[in-house]
Amino acid sequence: MPLVPPNIQNLVPYQPGRTADEIRREFGVSRVVKLASNENPLGPSPRAIERMTSVLDNVHYYPDGGTKLRSELAVRFRAKLDNVVVGSGSETIMSNIIRTFLCDDEEVLTAQGTFIGFYVLARSRGVKLVTVPLRDFRFDLEAIAARITGKTKIIYLANPNNPTGTIFTRDEFERFVPRVPPSTLVILDEAYFEYACENPDYPDSMRYRLDNVITLRTFSKAYGLAGVRIGYGLAHEALCDNVRKVKLSFEPSVLAEAAGLGALEDHEFLARTLDTNRRGKVQLANAFRELGLKAIPTEANFYLVVMGSESEAVQLFNDLLRRGVIVRPLAAFGLPDCLRITVGPEDQNRILISALKELLPVSA
Ligand SMILES: Cc1ncc(COP(=O)(O)O)c(C=O)c1O
Repeated sequence: MPLVPPNIQNLVPYQPGRTADEIRREFGVSRVVKLASNENPLGPSPRAIERMTSVLDNVHYYPDGGTKLRSELAVRFRAKLDNVVVGSGSETIMSNIIRTFLCDDEEVLTAQGTFIGFYVLARSRGVKLVTVPLRDFRFDLEAIAARITGKTKIIYLANPNNPTGTIFTRDEFERFVPRVPPSTLVILDEAYFEYACENPDYPDSMRYRLDNVITLRTFSKAYGLAGVRIGYGLAHEALCDNVRKVKLSFEPSVLAEAAGLGALEDHEFLARTLDTNRRGKVQLANAFRELGLKAIPTEANFYLVVMGSESEAVQLFNDLLRRGVIVRPLAAFGLPDCLRITVGPEDQNRILISALKELLPVSA
């Protein structure tokens, strides 16, 4: 028996986007614009910082599993405390869900071209990962439903999807739901919910409250707290109770819980974030069109840009790095000819656009 199981031996770990410090060092550029990881370009929510500061004197105490934040979320979603689980980012909750519900001979089902973190978690668990191609860069719920078998235990859906920024609609979701057996769990990852929820076609999962669906949301994006690690899950108590049995007792940290509580109060910051994103999306969409780049219309805080080939995508990624602009290549996501570009504020978008103008041939 090998010491390291083959699925771990062969596992390609998640590689986060390049950091500004790395690029400064490697290319000797003084100004770096990071549009690689869908972080909030406005920084963290100020209320979250205040709340974290106010609990600094308490960090010698162990946290209690985030009860205050769970209660606050329960009130906000007109749910019970037992319908809420909080953790060190939504990816950690996803990991706990996988540990809670999956047995060795069961399968997980999702799309090709979705959040890489889910692939890594499924592969590290050593179960069969079944993937279905995207259709026009969108989750194809029809095709996913057609692949459900008696062994399908977890279906992962990201809405909006990362890295495409697209959504599946209410109609599509409502046609999909009856095709999922009650013994199959749907993880509905709504990490970019705040950006998409104004779209009337967007199926906000909390309107449905289905017994076999766990909604995951995060404070990492619209609330600017990616570095603090705080996210939450909403589901039937029978699901949440079991996830809470498995999760590490002392997450989230005292600081992360305080940050989440502050962020929920910070309506001004959220409004400013969404407004900046709305304006940035228009600015970038216009520039991409002018430059002849194919960008997929987005419901999130990033664009998928489709290049002519993998080599064109890699070339543009490297050329942008040399000019101090970090974007995300997507080979590991299964979209090797594409780049993902986070929507920045006006000045950062302008730097990206002028770099693109220097690098790309002027379109006819
Ligand atoms: C679709 C999706 N889900 C989950 C995550 C992870 O979020 P968190 O920071 O809450 O772990 C991300 C982060 O990029 C994401 O894009």
